[in-house]
Amino acid sequence: MFDKRLTQLCPESKKYIIGNIILQWLELCMNAVMIALIVTTIGDLYDGTLEAFNIGFPVIFILMTVIVRFFTARGATRMSYLASKTVKQKMREMIYGKLLKLGSKYREQVTTAELVQESVEGVDQLESYFGLYVPQFFYAFIAPITLFFLFGFGGSWATATVLLVCVPLIPGAIMMVQKIAKKLLSKYWGQYAQLGSTFLENLQGMTTLKTYQADEFKNKQMNEESENFRFVTMKVLTMQLNSIIIMDFFAYGGAALGILMATRAFVKGNLALANCIFMILLSAEFFLPMHRLGSYFHVAMNGMAASDKIFKFLNLDEPAKKTEVCNSGDIQLENVHFAYDESREILHGISMTIPEKSFVGIVGESGCGKSTVASLLMGRNTINSGTMTIDGKNTADVTEESLMKTLTYISHNSTFFKGTVRENLLLAKPNADAQELWSVLDRCNLSAFLKTENGLDTVLLENAGNLSGGQRQRLALARAILHDSPVYIFDEATSNIDVESEEVILSEIRKLAKNKTIIMISHRLANVVDADNIYCLESGNIAESGTHDELLKKGGTYAKLWHTQAELESYGLVPERVKEARA
Ligand SMILES: Nc1ncnc2c1ncn2[C@@H]1O[C@H](COP(=O)(O)OP(=O)(O)OP(=O)(O)O)[C@@H](O)[C@H]1O
Ligand SMILES: [Mg+2]
Repeated sequence: MFDKRLTQLCPESKKYIIGNIILQWLELCMNAVMIALIVTTIGDLYDGTLEAFNIGFPVIFILMTVIVRFFTARGATRMSYLASKTVKQKMREMIYGKLLKLGSKYREQVTTAELVQESVEGVDQLESYFGLYVPQFFYAFIAPITLFFLFGFGGSWATATVLLVCVPLIPGAIMMVQKIAKKLLSKYWGQYAQLGSTFLENLQGMTTLKTYQADEFKNKQMNEESENFRFVTMKVLTMQLNSIIIMDFFAYGGAALGILMATRAFVKGNLALANCIFMILLSAEFFLPMHRLGSYFHVAMNGMAASDKIFKFLNLDEPAKKTEVCNSGDIQLENVHFAYDESREILHGISMTIPEKSFVGIVGESGCGKSTVASLLMGRNTINSGTMTIDGKNTADVTEESLMKTLTYISHNSTFFKGTVRENLLLAKPNADAQELWSVLDRCNLSAFLKTENGLDTVLLENAGNLSGGQRQRLALARAILHDSPVYIFDEATSNIDVESEEVILSEIRKLAKNKTIIMISHRLANVVDADNIYCLESGNIAESGTHDELLKKGGTYAKLWHTQAELESYGLVPERVKEARA
């Protein structure tokens, strides 16, 4: 009936829940007083003990009870709101805090879509649990007991006892469906998260889907998932409706029984008319709180199912508290093994020495593991064995903050946020002044263009969609230079852009290399010919390493790649054509 973890979650909400129960109880008492006043007034008028012109006083009392009832009802609603608000706030803070603790590795354990759904919709579902279900749970027991004594002292202990005995039939019915409900709701949330994830992915990839006219296929796929979701939703609704029918039967059946007994007692002359009417009017109140509890229960179960997922996320293993700080860009990898999933190892024991302020290239065929090395260095994934150090400190012990200050990663697909150029640049150095910003923009050949626009206040659309590919990449470089970190990792940072932009970027990288550690990941070997050392990867192993000249002399993998690329570039032809041209 209760989720212990949820109850312990937010002790602050306890006072609001207790307040809610007390106010609901006061409302019930006022209701009873009001009905008692009405029926005694009617009784007295009927008996003739009260003259019609003396009715003023009772009416004033009745009106007073109505006013008090109004305020207690309002107070209870307010308490309900405060209880759920406190919990929702706390829960969202916990999710956010956990996310920060997990750091950029969170994706290893949970998808972004799942997380968004849990923290928005999932947390909202808890509103009913704390605001309605928990207070109602206690009130539903207190109310019948209160009425039991009122009915008993009101003249019929028999009616009071029969009604009280019937009340537990409703929670009995709730418990019967609880097991089925739990299973069903867990399925419901699973399906919901899956549909949400597919929807988000398809929405983000809409342009690609349209380009390949694959939207029809995805549409079908989403229809199937929606149908599954509809099916499970209908099952949940059917289950809820059926259990409400059972509860109605017990609630209204019980109330009818109470009315019948009170009337019988009146007919037999054992009960005064006023007391009989009082019981008839309040019989339903015995059952209504429990009936309401049953309805809230279904909504609360939904909250509990959502909270299961949230707690699963909150219980994820956190990386151990890190304390080390690195200052220099001296990097070492020693026999590093890594797999994204256990079934397939990607890096098979690679070792690299990247001294401070050196320019190192990492090359190799597509899929050999170059970006994976960058991802490990950036702390997005964890190595399975071996050691990885920066400035002599094991990266596993270095704080995320320090790691982010030490390393700057620039890929071919940098993220920009909706806003101005200035705002996007200031992400890298919040206290930079306009002069500093123009200086990096100058270096990256962007100032002329931006001056024709709105300068630093030029507005960028989502992911800088209003810039060209080359401009976007130059802006990414400008932002990276501003970050001024000891290490820069360029991962195919010049792929798919115009020759002029590529030249600007490469020349800036060469300048940076004078006093920074540069790791240049590139499929294009011409970009790394100046490197102090080049690691040539092959299927997750280091096939060979050395300077460009040394590797050419070796005549191994690197040399082969170099000659193929040189030929392709000079012919400007695709491989098949090269063969044809040779023939
Ligand atoms: N997130 C991931 N989950 C599972 N496998 C992955 C993931 N990212 C990459 N891989 C796999 O790891 C291998 C190495 O990928 P990686 O991105 O490091 O290659 P790469 O050398 O950078 O290739 P490219 O030159 O095409 O960028 C690939 O076989 C890829 O399938
Ligand atoms: Mg890559």
